[in-house]
Amino acid sequence: MCSIIGYSGKDDAAPLLVKGLKRMEYRGYDSVGVATESNSKIELKKGVGRVGEVNAKFHLENLPGKIGIGHTRWATHGKVTDVNAHPHPSNSGQIAIVHNGIIENFEKLKNDLKKEGYNFLSETDSEVIANLLQKNYQKSKNVKNTMINTVSELKGHFSFIAMFDNGQLAAARFHEPLIIGVGEKNYVLSSDVLGFIEQTDEAIYIDNGNFVLIDQDKIQIFDFDGKEIKPLITKVSKEFADVYKGDYAHFTLKEISEQSETIFKAGEGTKEAIVETADYLKHAKNIYLTGSGTSYNASLVGKYLLSKYAKIKSESIISSELQFSPDSIEPNSILIAISQSGESADVLEAVNIAKKADCKIISILNSLTSTLARESDIVIGMNCGPEIGVAATKSFTSQLIIWYKIIQELSNEKMEINFQEISGAVSKTLQEHNNIKKIANEIKEISDIYVLGRGIHYPIAIESALKIKELTYIHAEGIAGGELKHGPLALMDSKVFVIIINPEDSTYQDTLTSAREIKARGAKIIGISDKYSDVYDFWIKLPSTNELTYPIAETIPIQLLSYYASLEKDTDPDYPRNLAKSVTVK
Ligand code: F6R
Repeated sequence: MCSIIGYSGKDDAAPLLVKGLKRMEYRGYDSVGVATESNSKIELKKGVGRVGEVNAKFHLENLPGKIGIGHTRWATHGKVTDVNAHPHPSNSGQIAIVHNGIIENFEKLKNDLKKEGYNFLSETDSEVIANLLQKNYQKSKNVKNTMINTVSELKGHFSFIAMFDNGQLAAARFHEPLIIGVGEKNYVLSSDVLGFIEQTDEAIYIDNGNFVLIDQDKIQIFDFDGKEIKPLITKVSKEFADVYKGDYAHFTLKEISEQSETIFKAGEGTKEAIVETADYLKHAKNIYLTGSGTSYNASLVGKYLLSKYAKIKSESIISSELQFSPDSIEPNSILIAISQSGESADVLEAVNIAKKADCKIISILNSLTSTLARESDIVIGMNCGPEIGVAATKSFTSQLIIWYKIIQELSNEKMEINFQEISGAVSKTLQEHNNIKKIANEIKEISDIYVLGRGIHYPIAIESALKIKELTYIHAEGIAGGELKHGPLALMDSKVFVIIINPEDSTYQDTLTSAREIKARGAKIIGISDKYSDVYDFWIKLPSTNELTYPIAETIPIQLLSYYASLEKDTDPDYPRNLAKSVTVK
């Protein structure tokens, strides 16, 4: 996934583009570039590295002109090199483009263009857009017709912005996000509201299959056949203003720390959607839960809760796996899709498959303006505010809270859930940070960590292992306690650390026994529990609480441990290597 941005207005474009790209860096951060137009000439600078680094080296923000485009890249086609970084100029240098997505037929297009004498400098799929635009522009000399002809030839998923040396911007959206920030005689085309939120809170969300032309202060939107569409300006949520780290060293730490508050916001204002969801669940023949990564892990918690507290059976399916068994979706069922971004390609594909089987789509979402929101029949909002850190933290606990609200509704509100107590437990575990920092120092040289839990704590163990992997690059694995003897015990020795999720509930005694079996093989034990045991080499204290509060409370210390271990290892917790915040490619 990448971020694209374009500016046309009365101010200097380059500094605003660089600022916007910094805000959107979570979407991809292996290379960056900016191009501007001034006096009918396009100037372009780009290179490998984070926005700050490349800007310091090449002074992107000094490029001249009031019109420009920019990009941060997460490599898909072609290595991370200066040449592969965007923007890509067309052969004539009259057009430059930035692109997010994948052009599936790029090889054919490239070969055809090569036969006509076009040269290609990069290994990317994106560069074909620049030359295809040039070819079509040379024929029609008209930007609108050029766009209609170009998008009709592209296959795949794309949003791109093209800058012409006559000062016009053109942009198209096909299954990748594109939003326009509308200022006073300024327009910012962007992958995300964060690209322009400092300038304006008025936005036009471009629909799939539409393109935009911006010429000075005139804007026009068309569908891919060229029919004009009336722009609809909406106000973006003021929550987007909350995109600063404040006093926190990193977004990840800020987002972990916010969880005592975000607990109260999950599902807020969507009571009707929760009631409707509960009603559908009561009467559904088949229920499927889906998501990727952390959101999939939240589906495992949902499955457990539905079964235990509402006696409703459901199936959790990893979104990317569904395409290989589409027939496993029974027609007229319910699919609950969980996604922070609402833009994960795998999740959208799973939704697409379920829709073909006439399923009702219910989504648990943070980004209410996302593609998934528009594809859903019912949307339940996480409302946890922008999550910038690439590793999901507060969105996970918000997803859990929404599951709690659903099962509460399924019990006709008879089930008492004390959200105040959950929030208090989060605050208490956050106070363990000094203890956790010390443990982070102990694990920094370790190459394998296992996280063990039973029952509802097993999905938390899987999620914890994911957090450790992403933030520390240490190999980590979640183990269901009872499975220890069926294989993983063979791995236990003095080089290994095992985190035991062991609150004092029905799983306690069995998990303590597992801890002793592991300790006997020489591994070091980190116990996360409300009850001390001498089997723990390190103990992270949980507040004593109940089965619904524990999963959230025990998630926090492992998020913190992963965060502090990343600092010990001198890696960037906000932007782990090779990852992107939302994976909009398959
Ligand atoms: C893990 C993480 C990813 C995401 C996954 C799904 O920390 O961030 O595994 O959970 O890419 O993303 P969404 O929820 O946006 O669909």
